[in-house]
Amino acid sequence: MKLSIYRFDPDKDERPYMKDYDVTPDASDRMLLDVLVKAKVQDDSLSFRRSCREGVCGSDAININGKNGLACITRVADLPRHVTLRPLPGLPVIRDLIVDMTQFFKQYHSIKPYVINNDPPPERERLQSPQEREELDGLYECILCACCSTSCPSYWWNPDKFVGPAGLLQAYRFIADTRDQATSERLDNLEDPYRLFRCHTIMNCVDACPKNLNPTRAINKIKELLVKRAV
Ligand code: SF4
Ligand code: SF4
Ligand code: FES
Repeated sequence: MKLSIYRFDPDKDERPYMKDYDVTPDASDRMLLDVLVKAKVQDDSLSFRRSCREGVCGSDAININGKNGLACITRVADLPRHVTLRPLPGLPVIRDLIVDMTQFFKQYHSIKPYVINNDPPPERERLQSPQEREELDGLYECILCACCSTSCPSYWWNPDKFVGPAGLLQAYRFIADTRDQATSERLDNLEDPYRLFRCHTIMNCVDACPKNLNPTRAINKIKELLVKRAV
């Protein structure tokens, strides 16, 4: 396989460049991350993030032949022989495939990603019916990899103002949670021309999500709630 990989070390390089690596996957190298590790053995200056290697931590999100995804769950067998790897689009590059996620997490924290409930805590947990719990399916599984937000043109243009699909999916995750009492405050926080309404339903986010989640559906549910409370 040939990997063409984006390289940039701001301490040494005047500008980014692409570097090619020829790697021969072994039978045990099933995922793109295995092959990337092989490239790093050839050239230990190559930098990328990874941790769990099983699609749970979200740290090895990169742009693979033009589409965002997780290297650890992208099968080598599904890739062509020539693969081009770049950092996630739209975020500042720290080095090679490593991007600065500060703005992404700022938007995530801006939606208050925790249950707000001012009732005195019960002796045991706050209960939900199975149906209430099911409302959170398709929302709680997000691993915050940023594949969606960094494939969204609205987020590229306004990363400081538009919450982006990942943050909005999480906003709805807490709005939909029957244990949460801050729905109205959460909707106030999103009722703004940029924070929510910069989503133009382009749906790149749905296509990019490696966990098969649907941020657009969550965004539309929030829009519906805002319309309902206005009438
Ligand atoms: S549907 Fe909305 S959030 Fe998703 S990519 Fe399009 S503009 Fe971005
Ligand atoms: S919604 Fe999907 S693509 Fe977006 S951050 Fe969560 S897991 Fe990643
Ligand atoms: S290394 Fe954790 S999601 Fe890929």
